Amino acid sequence: MSTSGSTPPPRNNVQTAGRILSGIQPTGNLHLGNYLGAIRNWVGLQKDYECFFLIVDLHAITLWQDPAELRRATREVAAGMIASGVDPVNNALFVQSHVPAHAELAWVFNCVARIGWLNRMTQFKDKAGKNRENASAGLYVYPNLMAADILVYKATHVPVGEDQKQHLELTRDIAQKFNNDYGKAVFPLPEPVIRGPGMRVMSLRDGAKKMSKSDESDYSRLNMTDDRDAIALKLQKAKTDPLPLPATEAELEGRPEAANLINIYAALTDKTIPEVLADISGLQFSAFKSRLTDIAVSVLGPINAEMQRLMNDPAEIDKVLSRGADKANAVAGEVLKEVYDTVGFLPRR
Ligand code: AMP
Ligand code: TRP
Repeated sequence: MSTSGSTPPPRNNVQTAGRILSGIQPTGNLHLGNYLGAIRNWVGLQKDYECFFLIVDLHAITLWQDPAELRRATREVAAGMIASGVDPVNNALFVQSHVPAHAELAWVFNCVARIGWLNRMTQFKDKAGKNRENASAGLYVYPNLMAADILVYKATHVPVGEDQKQHLELTRDIAQKFNNDYGKAVFPLPEPVIRGPGMRVMSLRDGAKKMSKSDESDYSRLNMTDDRDAIALKLQKAKTDPLPLPATEAELEGRPEAANLINIYAALTDKTIPEVLADISGLQFSAFKSRLTDIAVSVLGPINAEMQRLMNDPAEIDKVLSRGADKANAVAGEVLKEVYDTVGFLPRR
C-alpha cells in the first residue's frame, strides 16, 4: 500500500516543493538561538515551499503559564516572525488554538498512538522531571498533538531541531499506523528538514549549555528585543578563555565559548569558519567582541525596531493571525473531515 498520501495543491498555481509545517512555543523571550536556529530558516524555506507557521499555545499550557504573559508572548512570537521576514500573506502564520482541528485530530491520534511509544519520548522524561506522577496528562500526549499539527495539513516537510527529531519519528509512526489501520493512504510520511551545522547557539555564559529562554541569567542570551547597549554589554561580558583567538579551526577544539562566538559571527555574516578566522586574525578578544556587536546590531537592530513597532499595535498582529487562522482552518477542516469519515464517524447533515 502506498503511504505517500495526496500531494498538496499548488500555491497560486505555482507548484511548490511541498508543504512545510513548523511550530514554535509562545513561552518566554525570543532569542538569537530561535532566530538562527529556526526563524531564519523558515524565512528561507518560503521561497520553495507552501508554509504553515504555527504558534503552539495549546502545547505551551502543558506546563502552567501565566495567562497575561502567554498572551504577550504569543503576540511577541508573531511580531518576531513577521519582523524577521516571515511573509504572512503568501503563507499562513497563526495560533494553534484558533484552529480547532488540531485538538480534534489529536484526540483521534490519542487513540492511534500506543502508550509504549509515548513512554519512550525523552522530552517527556526531561520536562516531567523526577515527579512524573504529577506531570499533566497534556505533557504526556504532547507528541500526539504535535503529530496532529503536522498531519492536519498533510505537511510533507518539517523543519526541526535535533531535540524534536524523536517527535517527528513518532509522527511518521502515527501516520503509518493510521494508514494501515484504515487501509487508506490518508497521510503522507513527513520528512524532517534538519538545519545545517553551526546552528546550535550556545549560552554566552557557558559554552556547554544551549542558549535558552529558560536560563535564569539574561546575560546568557541575546534577546531579539535587546537594543545596541544590551547587545554590547552582553557580548562584552560573554565568557571566553585566556588563550588568544585561534588561527585555525583545529585550535577551536576544547574551547566551547570561543567556538560559540565564532559560530555566531559566521551565522550572522553567512561566512564559513575559515573565512571568519581570516577576518578576525590578529584581533584581541575585546576587539573581536566589538566587531561582533556591530554585526549583531546590524542584523538584529532592524528586526528589533520592527518588532517594537508591531508590539505597539497589537490589533495589527491580531488581524494578521486571524487571517492566518482563516487560511489554516480551510485546509485543516477538510483533512479533519476526511479523517472523521475514514474512521467511521457519522457525517453531520
Ligand atoms: P524553543 O525556544 O525551545 O521552543 O525552540 C523554538 C525553536 O528554536 C526550535 O526550532 C528550536 O530548535 C530552536 N532553538 C531554540 N534554542 C536554540 C539554540 N540555542 N540554538 C539553535 N536553535 C534553537
Ligand atoms: N514541539 C516543538 C518544540 O518544542 C514545537 C512544535 C509543536 C512543533 N508542534 C510542532 C514543531 C509541529 C514542528 C512541527 O520546539
